[in-house]
Amino acid sequence: MISPIKWKNNKVFMLDQRILPFKEVEIEHSTHFEVAASIRNMVIRGAPAIGVAAAMGVALGVLNMGENVRDPGYEFEKILSELESTRPTAKNLFWATGEMKKIFKKHSGNLSVLKERMIERALEIKREDEKINMKIGENGEGLIGEGDTVLTHCNAGSLATAGYGTALGVIRGAFFKGRKLSVIACETRPYLQGARLTTWELQKDNIPVKLITDSMAGYLMSAGNIDIVITGADRIAANGDTANKIGTYSLAVLARHHNIPFYIAAPVSTIDFESGSGKDIVIEERDKNEVLTCMGKKTALPETEVYNPAFDITPQDLITAIITERKVISGNFRSGISALFE
Ligand code: MRU
Repeated sequence: MISPIKWKNNKVFMLDQRILPFKEVEIEHSTHFEVAASIRNMVIRGAPAIGVAAAMGVALGVLNMGENVRDPGYEFEKILSELESTRPTAKNLFWATGEMKKIFKKHSGNLSVLKERMIERALEIKREDEKINMKIGENGEGLIGEGDTVLTHCNAGSLATAGYGTALGVIRGAFFKGRKLSVIACETRPYLQGARLTTWELQKDNIPVKLITDSMAGYLMSAGNIDIVITGADRIAANGDTANKIGTYSLAVLARHHNIPFYIAAPVSTIDFESGSGKDIVIEERDKNEVLTCMGKKTALPETEVYNPAFDITPQDLITAIITERKVISGNFRSGISALFE
């Protein structure tokens, strides 16, 4: 199974997703500052993978605390804020730092024990995420019918998680059960996660995939070429409204118009109870040069003004169901989501 991140000899190694699929290069990280920079710069991306990276980043930060550290609590807060300032929309990032906080509270009195427990919890978060994705795959695979063509957006696969993927986990679940299916991957401008990452991952598993530019989805739906849409999520509000890669909302509107089921696949750690609806979710705005260039080549004059929101909100009424590791929620999302935690 491809995994974008690993912990080895007290260092964090990440597959550099900025240069995939053309080069497979690992980057070594020895400090939480380096991990934070790699999250910010998209060396690693995808909400669950960002969560794993943040947990490992916190562990590195604590590991690097000297024996004579005056105020571990203060230093710990600084580590958290460095990592939490990287990408505001991915809920899993904040979920993971929250988990590391619990360990800090429990063991802050003994630095050497704290260091061990931090590493253990970070590695556990990674292992748990792999299992969660397999479970999401199991829970969702039955929604894909024999011979279906599944449209997906961005990359919600192994590269976006600890391994296996959420939306691609559901697709893998069906494919590995022997179901005949094919995938349409939207290229996902401006960062091309669909073109560069999703096709690469699926090709490695011999899952049939065709790449389209984002603007082709409506035509393919109208021509009857798409049976089901499945994407991942960066943050799910308490009412089911979902933040995911920019372009997801347009796909959900198109899917509704063409009577095509639209599914979100995500771990429970992506759910944010503090956001009552999508209106409360902060949408990350990224550098304008991502829009003014494509693969390093200029596509417009540098002085051109742009919008570059990295995510959009799909309102819950456009979502057929949300596939989690605990269950598949449909109907009244607010009560379905709160029942997950009862
Ligand atoms: O900007 P990115 O590449 O981090 O955006 C990723 C997505 O939007 C994914 O769909 C989402 O994080 C779910 S990944 C399992």
